[in-house]
Amino acid sequence: MKETGLIKKDEIDTPALLIDLDAFEYNIKLMADFMKDKSAKLRPHYKSYKCPTISHKQINAGAKGITCAKLEEAETLIFAGIRDVLIANEIPNPAKLYRLAGLAHAHPETKITVAADNAENITALSQAASRFGVTLYVLVEVDVGMGRCGVNTPDEVYALSKRIKDSKGLVFEGIQAYEGHLSYDLDIPTSLTEEVKREGVKKMCEKVGAIKDYLEKKGITVNEISGGGTGTYNITGNNTIWTEIQAGSYALMDSVYDRAGLRFKCAMTILTTVMHKRPGMAVTDAGLKVCTIEQGFPAIKGYPHLEIYQELSEEHGPIEDPKDELEYLQKIEYIPSHGCTTVNLHDQFYCVRNNTVEAIWPITARGRSR
Ligand SMILES: Cc1ncc(COP(=O)(O)O)c(C=O)c1O
Repeated sequence: MKETGLIKKDEIDTPALLIDLDAFEYNIKLMADFMKDKSAKLRPHYKSYKCPTISHKQINAGAKGITCAKLEEAETLIFAGIRDVLIANEIPNPAKLYRLAGLAHAHPETKITVAADNAENITALSQAASRFGVTLYVLVEVDVGMGRCGVNTPDEVYALSKRIKDSKGLVFEGIQAYEGHLSYDLDIPTSLTEEVKREGVKKMCEKVGAIKDYLEKKGITVNEISGGGTGTYNITGNNTIWTEIQAGSYALMDSVYDRAGLRFKCAMTILTTVMHKRPGMAVTDAGLKVCTIEQGFPAIKGYPHLEIYQELSEEHGPIEDPKDELEYLQKIEYIPSHGCTTVNLHDQFYCVRNNTVEAIWPITARGRSR
Protein backbone atom coordinates (compact mmCIF):
# COMPACT_ATOMS: atom_id res chain seq x y z
CA MET A 1 0.00 0.00 0.00
CA LYS A 2 1.24 3.50 -0.89
CA GLU A 3 2.50 5.55 2.08
CA THR A 4 0.34 8.65 2.43
CA GLY A 5 2.30 10.52 5.05
CA LEU A 6 -0.81 10.58 7.24
CA ILE A 7 -0.34 9.78 10.91
CA LYS A 8 -1.08 6.19 11.85
CA LYS A 9 -3.23 5.40 14.86
CA ASP A 10 -0.34 3.94 16.84
CA GLU A 11 1.70 7.11 16.20
CA ILE A 12 -0.82 9.31 18.06
CA ASP A 13 0.62 10.58 21.31
CA THR A 14 -1.35 9.43 24.34
CA PRO A 15 -3.65 9.80 26.12
CA ALA A 16 -5.91 10.87 23.23
CA LEU A 17 -9.62 10.76 22.48
CA LEU A 18 -10.41 8.84 19.27
CA ILE A 19 -13.40 8.48 17.02
CA ASP A 20 -13.68 5.36 14.90
CA LEU A 21 -15.13 7.02 11.78
CA ASP A 22 -16.72 3.87 10.38
CA ALA A 23 -18.60 3.27 13.64
CA PHE A 24 -19.55 6.96 13.97
CA GLU A 25 -20.88 7.15 10.40
CA TYR A 26 -22.79 3.90 10.97
CA ASN A 27 -24.46 5.45 14.06
CA ILE A 28 -25.36 8.68 12.25
CA LYS A 29 -26.92 6.73 9.37
CA LEU A 30 -28.77 4.28 11.62
CA MET A 31 -30.46 7.13 13.47
CA ALA A 32 -31.12 9.14 10.29
CA ASP A 33 -32.69 6.09 8.62
CA PHE A 34 -34.88 5.43 11.66
CA MET A 35 -36.10 9.04 11.81
CA LYS A 36 -36.67 9.40 8.06
CA ASP A 37 -40.36 8.43 8.03
CA LYS A 38 -41.29 9.58 11.55
CA SER A 39 -43.50 12.53 12.34
CA ALA A 40 -40.88 13.70 14.86
CA LYS A 41 -37.61 15.18 13.63
CA LEU A 42 -34.17 14.61 15.10
CA ARG A 43 -32.64 17.46 17.12
CA PRO A 44 -29.53 15.78 18.55
CA HIS A 45 -28.08 16.81 21.91
CA TYR A 46 -24.70 18.54 21.66
CA LYS A 47 -23.66 17.98 25.27
CA SER A 48 -22.77 14.39 24.37
CA TYR A 49 -19.93 15.43 22.04
CA LYS A 50 -19.51 19.26 22.11
CA CYS A 51 -18.07 19.34 18.59
CA PRO A 52 -19.80 21.47 15.91
CA THR A 53 -18.32 19.34 13.11
CA ILE A 54 -20.46 16.47 14.38
CA SER A 55 -23.52 18.74 14.55
CA HIS A 56 -23.06 19.70 10.89
CA LYS A 57 -22.80 16.04 9.95
CA GLN A 58 -26.04 15.31 11.82
CA ILE A 59 -27.80 18.18 10.03
CA ASN A 60 -26.47 17.02 6.67
CA ALA A 61 -27.98 13.62 7.52
CA GLY A 62 -31.42 15.19 8.15
CA ALA A 63 -31.48 16.61 11.69
CA LYS A 64 -33.59 19.78 11.89
CA GLY A 65 -31.35 21.60 14.38
CA ILE A 66 -29.34 20.98 17.53
CA THR A 67 -30.18 20.72 21.24
CA CYS A 68 -27.80 21.88 23.94
CA ALA A 69 -27.90 22.38 27.70
CA LYS A 70 -26.01 25.62 28.33
CA LEU A 71 -25.76 29.12 26.90
CA GLU A 72 -22.03 28.72 26.26
CA GLU A 73 -22.71 25.55 24.27
CA ALA A 74 -25.29 27.48 22.22
CA GLU A 75 -22.72 30.20 21.55
CA THR A 76 -20.24 27.71 20.10
CA LEU A 77 -22.97 26.17 17.92
CA ILE A 78 -24.15 29.53 16.59
CA PHE A 79 -20.59 30.77 15.96
CA ALA A 80 -20.09 27.54 13.97
CA GLY A 81 -23.08 28.34 11.76
CA ILE A 82 -25.87 26.20 13.25
CA ARG A 83 -29.09 28.10 12.56
CA ASP A 84 -31.64 26.39 14.81
CA VAL A 85 -30.58 25.88 18.42
CA LEU A 86 -32.62 24.69 21.39
CA ILE A 87 -31.26 25.21 24.89
CA ALA A 88 -33.35 22.45 26.50
CA ASN A 89 -32.76 23.86 29.94
CA GLU A 90 -33.69 26.85 32.07
CA ILE A 91 -31.36 29.87 32.21
CA PRO A 92 -32.04 31.48 35.58
CA ASN A 93 -29.10 33.91 35.86
CA PRO A 94 -30.04 37.49 34.87
CA ALA A 95 -26.57 38.26 33.46
CA LYS A 96 -26.78 35.22 31.24
CA LEU A 97 -30.21 36.21 29.95
CA TYR A 98 -28.77 39.45 28.58
CA ARG A 99 -25.96 37.45 27.01
CA LEU A 100 -28.59 35.17 25.43
CA ALA A 101 -30.56 38.12 24.07
CA GLY A 102 -27.31 39.70 22.84
CA LEU A 103 -26.50 36.46 21.02
CA ALA A 104 -29.92 36.52 19.34
CA HIS A 105 -29.37 40.18 18.39
CA ALA A 106 -25.99 39.41 16.80
CA HIS A 107 -27.42 36.38 14.93
CA PRO A 108 -30.86 37.32 13.59
CA GLU A 109 -30.57 34.46 11.08
CA THR A 110 -30.68 31.93 13.94
CA LYS A 111 -33.73 30.61 15.73
CA ILE A 112 -32.98 30.32 19.45
CA THR A 113 -35.34 28.41 21.74
CA VAL A 114 -34.99 28.07 25.49
CA ALA A 115 -36.90 26.21 28.23
CA ALA A 116 -38.63 27.88 31.18
CA ASP A 117 -40.58 26.54 34.14
CA ASN A 118 -41.51 29.57 36.23
CA ALA A 119 -43.15 32.97 35.87
CA GLU A 120 -40.24 34.98 37.23
CA ASN A 121 -37.87 33.49 34.65
CA ILE A 122 -40.34 34.25 31.85
CA THR A 123 -40.53 37.90 32.95
CA ALA A 124 -36.72 38.09 33.01
CA LEU A 125 -36.48 36.45 29.57
CA SER A 126 -38.96 38.98 28.18
CA GLN A 127 -37.06 41.92 29.71
CA ALA A 128 -33.82 40.72 28.15
CA ALA A 129 -35.44 40.06 24.74
CA SER A 130 -37.14 43.48 24.78
CA ARG A 131 -33.95 45.30 25.70
CA PHE A 132 -32.21 43.82 22.65
CA GLY A 133 -35.29 43.97 20.40
CA VAL A 134 -35.16 40.23 19.62
CA THR A 135 -37.52 37.28 19.61
CA LEU A 136 -36.80 34.26 21.78
CA TYR A 137 -38.82 31.06 21.40
CA VAL A 138 -39.77 29.37 24.66
CA LEU A 139 -40.75 25.81 25.62
CA VAL A 140 -42.43 25.22 28.97
CA GLU A 141 -40.71 22.30 30.67
CA VAL A 142 -42.95 19.54 31.98
CA ASP A 143 -41.57 16.99 34.45
CA VAL A 144 -42.39 13.61 32.92
CA GLY A 145 -40.86 11.60 35.75
CA MET A 146 -37.21 12.63 36.12
CA GLY A 147 -37.94 14.82 39.12
CA ARG A 148 -35.50 17.45 37.85
CA CYS A 149 -36.93 20.74 36.56
CA GLY A 150 -40.37 21.35 35.07
CA VAL A 151 -43.97 21.81 36.13
CA ASN A 152 -46.65 19.16 36.35
CA THR A 153 -50.28 20.09 35.89
CA PRO A 154 -52.13 21.31 32.79
CA ASP A 155 -53.09 24.47 34.70
CA GLU A 156 -49.45 25.25 35.52
CA VAL A 157 -48.43 24.76 31.88
CA TYR A 158 -51.36 26.87 30.71
CA ALA A 159 -50.48 29.74 33.08
CA LEU A 160 -46.87 29.78 31.90
CA SER A 161 -47.69 29.42 28.21
CA LYS A 162 -50.24 32.26 28.45
CA ARG A 163 -47.64 34.43 30.20
CA ILE A 164 -45.13 33.70 27.40
CA LYS A 165 -47.73 34.52 24.74
CA ASP A 166 -48.48 37.82 26.47
CA SER A 167 -44.80 38.74 26.95
CA LYS A 168 -42.96 41.10 24.65
CA GLY A 169 -40.10 39.47 22.74
CA LEU A 170 -41.22 35.89 23.47
CA VAL A 171 -43.04 33.28 21.40
CA PHE A 172 -44.61 30.23 23.04
CA GLU A 173 -43.34 27.32 20.98
CA GLY A 174 -44.41 24.27 22.96
CA ILE A 175 -43.29 21.79 25.61
CA GLN A 176 -39.93 20.44 26.75
CA ALA A 177 -40.43 16.92 28.12
CA TYR A 178 -37.36 14.70 28.53
CA GLU A 179 -37.67 11.20 29.94
CA GLY A 180 -34.08 10.65 31.12
CA HIS A 181 -35.29 8.27 33.87
CA LEU A 182 -36.46 5.86 31.13
CA SER A 183 -33.49 6.29 28.83
CA TYR A 184 -30.34 5.81 30.90
CA ASP A 185 -29.49 4.06 34.13
CA LEU A 186 -26.43 2.31 35.50
CA ASP A 187 -28.36 -0.98 35.67
CA ILE A 188 -29.68 -0.48 32.14
CA PRO A 189 -30.35 -4.08 31.12
CA THR A 190 -32.17 -5.00 34.33
CA SER A 191 -33.85 -1.76 35.38
CA LEU A 192 -34.77 -0.39 31.96
CA THR A 193 -36.21 -3.38 30.17
CA GLU A 194 -38.10 -2.82 26.94
CA GLU A 195 -41.35 -3.30 28.89
CA VAL A 196 -40.45 -0.71 31.54
CA LYS A 197 -39.47 1.79 28.86
CA ARG A 198 -42.59 1.22 26.76
CA GLU A 199 -44.89 1.49 29.76
CA GLY A 200 -43.09 4.66 30.94
CA VAL A 201 -43.23 6.32 27.54
CA LYS A 202 -46.94 5.42 27.25
CA LYS A 203 -47.66 7.14 30.57
CA MET A 204 -45.67 10.21 29.65
CA CYS A 205 -47.46 10.44 26.30
CA GLU A 206 -50.79 10.35 28.12
CA LYS A 207 -49.66 13.11 30.49
CA VAL A 208 -48.21 15.38 27.81
CA GLY A 209 -51.00 14.58 25.33
CA ALA A 210 -53.57 15.67 27.91
CA ILE A 211 -51.65 18.91 28.56
CA LYS A 212 -51.47 19.63 24.83
CA ASP A 213 -55.24 19.06 24.42
CA TYR A 214 -55.93 21.29 27.42
CA LEU A 215 -53.83 24.14 26.02
CA GLU A 216 -55.34 23.84 22.56
CA LYS A 217 -58.88 23.88 23.97
CA LYS A 218 -57.93 27.16 25.61
CA GLY A 219 -56.69 28.55 22.31
CA ILE A 220 -52.95 28.03 22.72
CA THR A 221 -51.19 26.25 19.86
CA VAL A 222 -48.43 23.80 20.76
CA ASN A 223 -45.99 23.67 17.84
CA GLU A 224 -43.30 21.51 19.38
CA ILE A 225 -43.02 18.76 21.95
CA SER A 226 -39.35 18.01 22.44
CA GLY A 227 -37.57 15.25 24.39
CA GLY A 228 -36.28 11.71 23.94
CA GLY A 229 -32.85 10.19 24.58
CA THR A 230 -30.69 7.49 23.05
CA GLY A 231 -32.28 4.81 25.24
CA THR A 232 -35.83 5.72 24.19
CA TYR A 233 -35.42 7.17 20.68
CA ASN A 234 -37.11 4.18 19.06
CA ILE A 235 -40.09 4.30 21.44
CA THR A 236 -40.62 8.05 21.93
CA GLY A 237 -39.64 8.57 18.28
CA ASN A 238 -42.48 6.27 17.21
CA ASN A 239 -45.27 8.20 18.89
CA THR A 240 -47.05 10.98 17.05
CA ILE A 241 -47.18 13.53 19.87
CA TRP A 242 -43.46 14.31 20.15
CA THR A 243 -42.19 16.52 17.31
CA GLU A 244 -38.48 16.42 18.20
CA ILE A 245 -36.10 13.73 19.50
CA GLN A 246 -33.10 15.03 21.42
CA ALA A 247 -30.92 11.88 21.52
CA GLY A 248 -27.22 12.72 21.67
CA SER A 249 -25.18 9.80 22.99
CA TYR A 250 -26.08 7.59 20.00
CA ALA A 251 -23.41 9.31 17.87
CA LEU A 252 -20.42 8.14 19.95
CA MET A 253 -21.97 5.91 22.65
CA ASP A 254 -20.31 4.72 25.88
CA SER A 255 -19.91 1.44 27.74
CA VAL A 256 -23.02 1.90 29.93
CA TYR A 257 -25.28 2.64 26.95
CA ASP A 258 -23.63 -0.25 25.13
CA ARG A 259 -25.20 -2.61 27.69
CA ALA A 260 -28.69 -1.44 26.67
CA GLY A 261 -28.79 -3.65 23.59
CA LEU A 262 -29.21 -0.69 21.22
CA ARG A 263 -27.84 -1.11 17.71
CA PHE A 264 -25.36 1.78 17.93
CA LYS A 265 -21.62 1.06 18.09
CA CYS A 266 -19.08 2.43 20.57
CA ALA A 267 -17.29 4.93 18.33
CA MET A 268 -15.33 6.82 21.00
CA THR A 269 -12.30 5.47 22.84
CA ILE A 270 -9.34 6.82 24.78
CA LEU A 271 -6.02 5.71 23.36
CA THR A 272 -3.53 5.04 26.14
CA THR A 273 -0.03 3.57 26.51
CA VAL A 274 1.07 0.91 28.99
CA MET A 275 3.72 2.91 30.86
CA HIS A 276 4.58 0.28 33.46
CA LYS A 277 4.38 -3.51 33.42
CA ARG A 278 5.09 -6.00 36.14
CA PRO A 279 3.78 -9.55 36.67
CA GLY A 280 0.02 -9.43 37.10
CA MET A 281 -0.31 -5.69 36.60
CA ALA A 282 -0.13 -3.09 33.82
CA VAL A 283 -0.39 0.67 34.35
CA THR A 284 -1.54 3.00 31.57
CA ASP A 285 -1.01 6.73 31.14
CA ALA A 286 -4.78 7.48 31.20
CA GLY A 287 -6.31 8.43 34.54
CA LEU A 288 -9.03 10.66 35.90
CA LYS A 289 -7.86 13.72 34.02
CA VAL A 290 -8.82 12.14 30.69
CA CYS A 291 -11.60 9.72 31.68
CA THR A 292 -14.56 10.23 34.02
CA ILE A 293 -15.66 7.39 36.29
CA GLU A 294 -18.87 8.58 38.00
CA GLN A 295 -20.68 5.82 36.08
CA GLY A 296 -18.00 3.18 36.57
CA PHE A 297 -14.57 2.35 35.22
CA PRO A 298 -13.95 2.33 31.48
CA ALA A 299 -14.03 -1.00 29.63
CA ILE A 300 -10.81 -2.12 27.95
CA LYS A 301 -11.48 -2.54 24.22
CA GLY A 302 -10.59 -6.01 22.94
CA TYR A 303 -9.97 -7.27 26.50
CA PRO A 304 -13.46 -7.55 28.05
CA HIS A 305 -12.08 -9.75 30.86
CA LEU A 306 -9.51 -7.16 32.03
CA GLU A 307 -10.48 -4.53 34.59
CA ILE A 308 -9.15 -1.41 36.24
CA TYR A 309 -7.60 -2.40 39.57
CA GLN A 310 -9.28 -0.57 42.49
CA GLU A 311 -9.00 3.07 41.32
CA LEU A 312 -7.99 5.32 38.46
CA SER A 313 -5.58 7.90 39.81
CA GLU A 314 -5.08 11.30 38.22
CA GLU A 315 -2.60 10.26 35.54
CA HIS A 316 -2.50 6.46 35.89
CA GLY A 317 -4.75 3.56 35.01
CA PRO A 318 -3.77 0.36 36.85
CA ILE A 319 -5.11 -2.76 35.13
CA GLU A 320 -5.13 -6.21 36.68
CA ASP A 321 -3.42 -8.43 34.12
CA PRO A 322 -3.23 -11.93 35.69
CA LYS A 323 -2.12 -13.65 32.47
CA ASP A 324 0.28 -10.87 31.49
CA GLU A 325 -1.47 -10.23 28.18
CA LEU A 326 -0.43 -6.58 28.03
CA GLU A 327 3.08 -5.39 27.25
CA TYR A 328 5.18 -2.39 28.14
CA LEU A 329 4.53 0.46 25.63
CA GLN A 330 1.53 -1.37 24.13
CA LYS A 331 -1.28 0.97 23.09
CA ILE A 332 -4.73 -0.04 24.25
CA GLU A 333 -8.12 1.72 24.23
CA TYR A 334 -10.59 2.52 27.00
CA ILE A 335 -14.29 2.68 26.21
CA PRO A 336 -15.49 5.40 28.63
CA SER A 337 -18.47 4.55 30.83
CA HIS A 338 -19.88 8.06 30.41
CA GLY A 339 -19.18 9.72 27.08
CA CYS A 340 -20.85 13.09 27.82
CA THR A 341 -18.54 13.96 30.72
CA THR A 342 -15.42 12.38 29.22
CA VAL A 343 -15.50 14.57 26.08
CA ASN A 344 -15.44 17.59 28.38
CA LEU A 345 -11.88 16.63 29.41
CA HIS A 346 -10.45 16.76 25.89
CA ASP A 347 -9.66 19.45 23.32
CA GLN A 348 -9.96 17.33 20.19
CA PHE A 349 -11.04 14.08 18.62
CA TYR A 350 -8.55 12.14 16.51
CA CYS A 351 -10.77 10.63 13.82
CA VAL A 352 -9.42 7.30 12.64
CA ARG A 353 -10.22 5.01 9.73
CA ASN A 354 -8.19 1.99 8.63
CA ASN A 355 -5.67 2.78 11.39
CA THR A 356 -4.99 6.21 9.86
CA VAL A 357 -5.88 9.63 11.29
CA GLU A 358 -8.26 11.09 8.72
CA ALA A 359 -9.18 14.29 10.59
CA ILE A 360 -8.85 16.12 13.88
CA TRP A 361 -12.09 17.71 15.10
CA PRO A 362 -12.03 20.34 17.85
CA ILE A 363 -14.20 19.79 20.93
CA THR A 364 -15.10 23.46 20.81
CA ALA A 365 -17.48 23.46 23.76
CA ARG A 366 -15.10 21.61 26.07
CA GLY A 367 -15.40 23.42 29.41
CA ARG A 368 -18.11 25.72 28.00
CA SER A 369 -20.52 24.70 30.71
CA ARG A 370 -21.94 27.98 31.95
C1 LIG B 1 -32.78 17.39 28.15
C2 LIG B 1 -32.03 16.24 27.56
N1 LIG B 1 -32.37 15.81 26.32
C3 LIG B 1 -31.71 14.80 25.72
C4 LIG B 1 -30.64 14.18 26.34
C5 LIG B 1 -29.86 13.15 25.53
O1 LIG B 1 -29.84 11.95 26.06
P1 LIG B 1 -28.89 10.76 25.58
O2 LIG B 1 -27.57 10.99 26.21
O3 LIG B 1 -29.61 9.61 26.12
O4 LIG B 1 -28.84 10.75 24.13
C6 LIG B 1 -30.29 14.57 27.64
C7 LIG B 1 -29.22 13.85 28.36
O5 LIG B 1 -29.03 13.93 29.55
C8 LIG B 1 -30.98 15.63 28.27
O6 LIG B 1 -30.66 16.07 29.50
